[in-house]
Amino acid sequence: MKSILQQQLKRKDTNSVKWDGLEQWFRLSEDVLPLWVADIDIRTAPSISEALAAKAAQGEFGYTLFAPEAQKAVSDWYGRRHDLIVDPNHVLFSSGVVPALTHIVEALTEVGDGVVIQSPVYPPFHELVVGSKRQVFDAPLKKIDERYEMDFVALEEAMKQAKLFLLCSPHNPVGRVWTRAELEKVVALADQYEVIVVADEIHADLTFPSHKHTAIGTLDSRVITVSAPSKAFNIAGLFASYIICPVDEWRKQITKVQNKHHVLPTPFANTAIIAAYTNNRAERWLDQLREELEQQMNDVIDSIESNLPMLHTTRPEASYLLWLDFSELPMSAEDRKSWLHHEVRIFLSPGGPFGPQGEAFERMNIGTRRELLDEAIHRLSAQMERKAFV
Ligand SMILES: Cc1ncc(COP(=O)(O)O)c(C=O)c1O
Repeated sequence: MKSILQQQLKRKDTNSVKWDGLEQWFRLSEDVLPLWVADIDIRTAPSISEALAAKAAQGEFGYTLFAPEAQKAVSDWYGRRHDLIVDPNHVLFSSGVVPALTHIVEALTEVGDGVVIQSPVYPPFHELVVGSKRQVFDAPLKKIDERYEMDFVALEEAMKQAKLFLLCSPHNPVGRVWTRAELEKVVALADQYEVIVVADEIHADLTFPSHKHTAIGTLDSRVITVSAPSKAFNIAGLFASYIICPVDEWRKQITKVQNKHHVLPTPFANTAIIAAYTNNRAERWLDQLREELEQQMNDVIDSIESNLPMLHTTRPEASYLLWLDFSELPMSAEDRKSWLHHEVRIFLSPGGPFGPQGEAFERMNIGTRRELLDEAIHRLSAQMERKAFV
């Protein structure tokens, strides 16, 4: 079968945040390689493009309800792919996972309440809690034998003081797919301290074939799950996400907040969710993409290990994000940023915003053609040599 990852897709000059944002937002030159924001340089599954084209041909683009067929598609998908039984009526639309998390925090906690996160973590987790005037209780992950693990002592301390826990599963940026045993401990602590668990599972469908994602909702019937086909099928710009909330009272409160913020799907959001989750061709396409991503991740790590021995990484178990440790380079985060942009000419996501231990890290998005990754590694290696970092 034709490779998904190695196909050419024009992204530059399409108003792409990832490609055109470098010039528009950061005034960087055209030849800087964009390996940052979490979308990837591939065309979505053909069956999704076909369904969207058919919807466009109808010419009907009025205000749109969340389609019952889309709710059923989410329910069937979670049942089939992740063994989670979902009542379709428990599925709410959201125009993004971050808006969903923000609305849930607003609905289910009060100003001043504690919310637990586990840094280093996707920066909006911290930002949305602070922005909502809630308190962050961080239970940082620990690195044990080149693998990130949950710190259950810190998690228990944080949960004692909090009302809600934002779990990132699989975890961005460290790439862990939490085991069933780990998640069982999480739900036990949450039950003990009456903490609402909200799981962001946006990367779950990109779990590598050699790992198994456990939907935490299968372990506790009160967990709220937030997800989308956006990462799996590379359709983040369609803003088609959803919340699975099995507790009636919480769902009512979340709906109230969503109504306040005018949350409604675009006409294309329903189509995208249904096309992604109900079409056999889309599902086979996704399984091929997962295999290609795992292979490419392993190849890139091997190449970094042999060409850039001063950089270190842990092995992700899902998705396309690689958390790279630059701490052996004698440079501040600020100097590293300038060096990467102007001398190496690659753009990575700086680690600082992911949390206090992130300062010495950069996150690399490997979801692009292999030749661009080889070029990025070559540029890093040449500039490290030039600086006598070897
Ligand atoms: C863990 C996680 N949650 C949420 C998002 C963003 O979701 P959305 O664009 O639907 O708000 C991302 C994007 O990178 C992510 O990695």
